Amino acid sequence: MNCIQKISQDIYWVGGNDRRLERFENMFPIPNGVCYNSYLIVDEKTALIDTVDVSISALFFDNITHVLNGRNLDYLIINHMEPDHCGNIEEIVKRYPSVRIVGNKKTFQFLEQFYDYDCKNNYLEINEGDKLSLGEHQLKFYYAPMVHWPEVMFTYEEKEKILFSADAFGTFGALSGNIFSDETDFNTVFLEEARRYYANIVGKYGGQVQSVLKKLSPFEIKMICPLHGPVWRKNLPFILEKYDYWSKYKPEKNGVVLVYASMYGNTENVMNVIASKLAFKGITDMRIYDVSKTHPSYIISDLWKYSHFIVGSPTYNMGLYYGMESLLRELEALQFQNRKVSIVGNYTWSCKSTAIMQEMLSKMKNIEIIGKPFELKSTMKREQEEALENLVDEFYQSII
Ligand code: FEO
Repeated sequence: MNCIQKISQDIYWVGGNDRRLERFENMFPIPNGVCYNSYLIVDEKTALIDTVDVSISALFFDNITHVLNGRNLDYLIINHMEPDHCGNIEEIVKRYPSVRIVGNKKTFQFLEQFYDYDCKNNYLEINEGDKLSLGEHQLKFYYAPMVHWPEVMFTYEEKEKILFSADAFGTFGALSGNIFSDETDFNTVFLEEARRYYANIVGKYGGQVQSVLKKLSPFEIKMICPLHGPVWRKNLPFILEKYDYWSKYKPEKNGVVLVYASMYGNTENVMNVIASKLAFKGITDMRIYDVSKTHPSYIISDLWKYSHFIVGSPTYNMGLYYGMESLLRELEALQFQNRKVSIVGNYTWSCKSTAIMQEMLSKMKNIEIIGKPFELKSTMKREQEEALENLVDEFYQSII
């Protein structure tokens, strides 16, 4: 049974949800599932904008067969060639052999890398700014490289001023019937997952996101249709502003993420003491995470949100505890920047963790280390209380 939604007079949502998948990209936990959006424009010509993941192919073909109602599919526009959106291209070509596949040079390069079927005769290669007329609806194509892959492009529908934005403005989380963000309690249901999606999937490419936001700024946009998550038709400045903050690596809030590795609870104990002291001073927004317990994507998401963080880790095998090392390496890879941090190191016979964390943090842009790193030898001792108090004072002063 088809399950479609009309998003405007001639444009239909023909996507679907996957609530069974454990991990997006086989990496990121998605406890609330994920949705794959695809849009079908029915005009003098018909155009499908992106396909979906193979996990929901059956529903997807029910949907487009229903909307086309016996008509041919004239165009398939590929804004993004990642397989979560491209799993059905071959079947589309089999069902609609005359379909023109609209993409740029890189789109077709990736299509041939991922898939073996030959559909070169179907290619319609476009360049930046090219137009495609469907009748009343005119589509214009704009490159959006590295948001999130190099071949990505955005499609702008001029009549209704709709931006089909590929992965941009998307979120983890399946839709619960309501397709528009204004029909959901977005802040409660989706915002955390939108940030986690952005930080982990697109976070590395802040500069490229900024370029695309600048490119879009002269456009009048009445609706944003991403490939994941709800469609935006109201309060567009809200999500555009979030993207502006996130892509500038600008904290949304003053607050602290305390993230630690701890084998026997001693580093954890110091982090709890620090958090209590900060709480006593009046800091309200704090999150504490154990790198061995919480998937790094959640920690990274909160690091994107807040202005300050504290890292704590024991030395392990004369190096840094694996979970902390991999978190800091990932942050560096994501170009994480513009935050203030303090360091807590722990060791029993040879302190390496403090120096390694310092070195890894120093490779990140505009990460200011506050205070003297606090080191404990296995456990914190009473004579260290003053040193810890001094660090907490300095850290607190950097927040207020
Ligand atoms: Fe949803 Fe970059 O794919």
